[in-house]
Amino acid sequence: MTRHAVLAGIGSTLPERVVTNEMLAQRIDTSDEWIRSRTGIVERRLVEQGTATSDLAVEAGRRALKSAALDRVDAVVLATTTPDHPCPATAPTVASRLGLGTVAAHDVSAVCSGFLYGLATGAGLIAIDQAETLLVIGAEAFSTIIDPDDRGTAPIFGDGAGAVVLRAGRRDEPGALLGMELGSDGELADAIIVPGGGSRQRTSGHPPAPGDQFMKMQGQTVFRNAIVRMTQSCHAVLDRTGWPVETVGLLVGHQANVRILNAVAEDLGLPAERAFVNLDRYGNTAAASIPLALADAAASGAVRAGDRVLLTAFGGGASWGAATLTWPAVDPS
Ligand code: UT7
Repeated sequence: MTRHAVLAGIGSTLPERVVTNEMLAQRIDTSDEWIRSRTGIVERRLVEQGTATSDLAVEAGRRALKSAALDRVDAVVLATTTPDHPCPATAPTVASRLGLGTVAAHDVSAVCSGFLYGLATGAGLIAIDQAETLLVIGAEAFSTIIDPDDRGTAPIFGDGAGAVVLRAGRRDEPGALLGMELGSDGELADAIIVPGGGSRQRTSGHPPAPGDQFMKMQGQTVFRNAIVRMTQSCHAVLDRTGWPVETVGLLVGHQANVRILNAVAEDLGLPAERAFVNLDRYGNTAAASIPLALADAAASGAVRAGDRVLLTAFGGGASWGAATLTWPAVDPS
């Protein structure tokens, strides 16, 4: 019988530094009104000098372990776009700093869909008996790849981390990952890209151009594709799970733009109130966005034990996905 992955704990953390829209407008040609009305974002948290992704990942992991009442797990999967170093992966450092010794640990790179790909990886490690329990962490010091003078990206992104504990269990338990739908389209690779620092640039015979260490985004292309792909993957995963859409208690979409979340809810036929929103406070935290949203939703009572939860994300790659689970009785930490 297949061993199922069951969500058994959740935790999150954010940098303390708050950057408001007004603060951004002092540096770049933008306004609080434009950012609020075009994205829904009011403020975001950015790391202080000296804080790297692993620092956030360790704290979120520690809190998720506490929420699950565990002090050990058998593996760590870290979804991030901003590893501490291009090489090696950051997850082994996180595992060590959490006192987990020599457990399996690796990074998953799927930008804003990274946490869903991480859940799939974690479920696979459980299914093949590599792990009885594990951490899936989404953590980003995303501001480290953002050009602070680019008004197309600087208002959008923020930093933070969220983590869940998965344990081996049964499909009919609350918290079991019931369905998953993942996809990608490399034709859209340029829509969200850091041009410099990889083998493509290093074998070009040219040094990186100024600014090529920063992410470039084709906002409108991403916006259009995000709505289509998130809606399609939600339909596919609902079909696979056997849930009529109206039974979904909470849609937890990747927190990029409230207009995207509203459009996906509308296309699915869900009232806007069922789409969880916390991007007003944190902006788009890429791989951290879904676990941060889940932790907030659980803490605020927006999701309760027994509710049907639909997760969906779209991001660089392009990559996207959706997943279903019934919310378990867990207290976020
Ligand atoms: O995490 C991965 C997924 N990422 C996303 O989902 C992001 C998806 N994209 C978006 O959310 C939106 O495309 C943005 C929020 C990034 C941009 O919003 P938009 O409505 O697509 O704006 P736009 O680029 O079409 O620009 C509209 C206008 C332009 O002015 P004109 O040409 O109409 O006069 C821009 O120059 O808004 C102007 N503009 C700004 N004005 C003030 C663009 N950025 C800004 C800004 N402040 N920051």
